[in-house]
Amino acid sequence: MRLSNDTPLFPLQKGTITRQAHVNLPEGTFEEEFARNGFFGRTTHLYRRHPVTAWTRIEGPLRPHSYDLNRLAVDGSEAVMASMRGSREAAFAPVCFLHNEDVALHWVSPRTMDFLYRNADGDDVYYIHAGGGRLETVFGNLDYAKGDYLVLPRGTTYRFLPDTGEQRYLLIESASEVSIPDRNQLGPNALFDPAMIDTPELAPVDETPGEWAVHIKRENEITKVFYPFNPLDVVGWKGDLTVWRINVKDIRPILSARYHLPPSAHSTFMARNFVICSFLPRPFEEEEGAMRVPFYHSNIDYDEVLFYSDGHFFSREGIGPGMVTWHPQGLHHGPHPKAIPASRTKERTDEVAVMVDTFRPLKATPVAGLVENPDYWASWK
Ligand SMILES: [Fe+2]
Repeated sequence: MRLSNDTPLFPLQKGTITRQAHVNLPEGTFEEEFARNGFFGRTTHLYRRHPVTAWTRIEGPLRPHSYDLNRLAVDGSEAVMASMRGSREAAFAPVCFLHNEDVALHWVSPRTMDFLYRNADGDDVYYIHAGGGRLETVFGNLDYAKGDYLVLPRGTTYRFLPDTGEQRYLLIESASEVSIPDRNQLGPNALFDPAMIDTPELAPVDETPGEWAVHIKRENEITKVFYPFNPLDVVGWKGDLTVWRINVKDIRPILSARYHLPPSAHSTFMARNFVICSFLPRPFEEEEGAMRVPFYHSNIDYDEVLFYSDGHFFSREGIGPGMVTWHPQGLHHGPHPKAIPASRTKERTDEVAVMVDTFRPLKATPVAGLVENPDYWASWK
C-alpha cells in the first residue's frame, strides 16, 4: 500500500467508532482527532475512555502555556524596558512574547509617534484588541478601530496616531508575504467579500519644517534615517501592493448545523509555515448528536496560539480577554471538562479570538514568563 500526501489511504476501522466523525460519538467515549497538515491531511479518529488531556503530572519542558497580556505593556514596566533593546522608543515598543523563524507575536501599546517606522524584517499584521486612531502610511491614511486587522507589507513606512484611551494591539510579524487563503468551492465572496477591504486614502501630509526620522528595523536592530521633509510625501500611487484593513465584524464565518467544522474553516490569512484564523460569534451546531465544542486533538504538525479578545470563551474556563494560550505540538488539547455539558444548553458562541498555528515550534521570550499562569497545564483536571 503506497502512502503519500496526495494518495489518501482508504479509511480503516477498528473497534468501536462512529462512521461520521464528530457526530453521535459511541456512548462514554471521547473523540480525538489525529491529523496531519492542520486538519487538511490524512486523519484518524480515536475513541477513548477518558479525555486525553486528563493528565495528573507533566515532567519535562513540553506543556501548555497561558499568558495574561493585560499584565504587560504598561509604560515603564519591566517587560517593556526589557523589550526595548536600547534604541526602541517608548511610543512604539512592541513586546515580543512568542517567536520562531517564520512569525513573531508581539503586544503593542503605541502612543502618538513623532517618528516613522519601517519593518524590513517582514509583513506586519495588527489586530486591534482595544483602542483606535489613525494610521499614517506612505500610501495615505487609514483610520482604525477595535476589531480591525491592519495588514502592512514589509518595507511600508508608517506611524500610529492613536486616540486617547487604552491601546492594546496584537502584532503578528511574518517573515514571508501574508495573503488570503483560496475560498475554493465557497466562492470568492465567502468569509468576507474582497470589496469589504479598505485601503489608505491620500491626504495632504504634515509639512511642518524640521527633521523627520524613519526608524527601520532590520534583523531586530534599529537604523534611523533622517530627512529635512516628511517622507510620507507621495501624491499618487498605482498597483496591487499596499496596506489594507478588514474588521472582524465583516468576516462571516461559515458553519454547518450538522457538523463541527475544523479550525481551518476559519482561516483569515496565510503565510509561509503559519496561518491566522478568526473565531467569531456564530450559532452552535443544532442537530442532536452533532459535536458542539472542539474535539480533542493532537495537531501534530502545528503549534497553536489563541489570543482571546472578546466575549465568553466557552471551551476554556478561566480565560478572559487579553489572554493567550499556547499549545505546543506533541501534546494534546481540547475543551475543558465543563465545556462539553455547558455547550449542550447554549445556542451560540459570542467569542472573538485570533488563532496563529505555526508549522515550526515556537519559543517563548523571558517577557512571556513574567505574565504566565504556571498552573494552566493542570486546568483540565
Ligand atoms: Fe487546536
